[in-house]
Amino acid sequence: MVYKVPFVNYPEHYSRMWDEVISAISEALSKGDLLLRGQLRQFEEDIASFVGVKYAVGLNSGTDAMLLSLKAAGVGPGDEVITVAHTFVATIAVIVFCGAKPVLVDVGEDMNMNVEQVEQKISKKTKAVIPVHLNGRLCNMKKLMEIADEHNLVLIEDAAQALGASFDGKKAGSFELTGCFSLYPAKVLGAAGDGGFLTTNDEKINESIRLLRDHGQDRKTGKIFFYGFNSRLDNIQAAILNVKLKYLPKWIERRRDIAQIYHTGLSDIPEVTLPPPPINAGSYYDVYQNYVIRTKNRDELVKFLEEKSVETIISWRIPNHFHSALNLEHFKLPVTEQISNEVISLPMYPELSDDQVQYVINVLHDFYEQR
Ligand SMILES: Cc1ncc(COP(=O)(O)O)c(C=O)c1O
Repeated sequence: MVYKVPFVNYPEHYSRMWDEVISAISEALSKGDLLLRGQLRQFEEDIASFVGVKYAVGLNSGTDAMLLSLKAAGVGPGDEVITVAHTFVATIAVIVFCGAKPVLVDVGEDMNMNVEQVEQKISKKTKAVIPVHLNGRLCNMKKLMEIADEHNLVLIEDAAQALGASFDGKKAGSFELTGCFSLYPAKVLGAAGDGGFLTTNDEKINESIRLLRDHGQDRKTGKIFFYGFNSRLDNIQAAILNVKLKYLPKWIERRRDIAQIYHTGLSDIPEVTLPPPPINAGSYYDVYQNYVIRTKNRDELVKFLEEKSVETIISWRIPNHFHSALNLEHFKLPVTEQISNEVISLPMYPELSDDQVQYVINVLHDFYEQR
């Protein structure tokens, strides 16, 4: 089905930089630059400087950025790691893959980690906390850093949805041990397939992650330091990302403009709860990876939007701790559970025209006027 307002529009996205992307791919292929070559090093250097950290390591996914972070931090069997249930399942999966136990806390009304609950859940076994900066807005990092300092915990940021967002002037991924980013195609900066990267200011962590992503081996000496993984970011992806990175600030601005249009257009619908509008002062600078609204009539509204040719998604309809296969059913997280019944992600990407955004706003008004 061709939507009037699709949820993502990759053809339009790539059409705007087609020649540059194709020539970056051709150059990499014609030189045989496929793995761990100059394009990757360039990407790592530029993205580290964008985030404001000393090091960035290109990886195959945001998931592996978190898995390798936990491994490098020495998290393993017997340890507990605190995170949220209102996240993509990967945030919890990596804790289980390390042999550690996930301890889930609820989120606040902003859909980010309830920091007070983190303090309550700390035990002798707690080794790390993974705050998730959901939808392009950071968690309260000031409070989390204080807690981590006081209890000697490792803080690993799941920044998969927050590239370019900041809290108190510091960007996501620059606060603590590592920042873990996804380059999934629909992200603020997306690869042409899967990808991710990790940021850190810690030289030792940078070295460990470089080994962990490449089978634990030092290619120069041939020495193997430990069992590692194959988690490298492909060179062709890095070449494409180098083209895209220069447009990133402009794309973030456009996302913030769209958020403002949605905010102005939807603020007068009392049945709908909106995310905070973009502001240039205060602690939070949001990048609107997703524009997520909440409403009690969620399923009817989704159906109505679909009928009017507006594509939406729901993240996430079933809370992670409700999936019996995941063995998390003992957690009771009322805010997460309520949010799962109410959220809808509206289309949000730089290529949306003002008219398309206005159309979505009009459809929402039509829905609530008919009720
Ligand atoms: C909050 C969050 N964490 C982790 C991930 C995992 O990233 P990836 O798909 O690159 O492995 C995602 C990706 O969608 C995400 O949104």
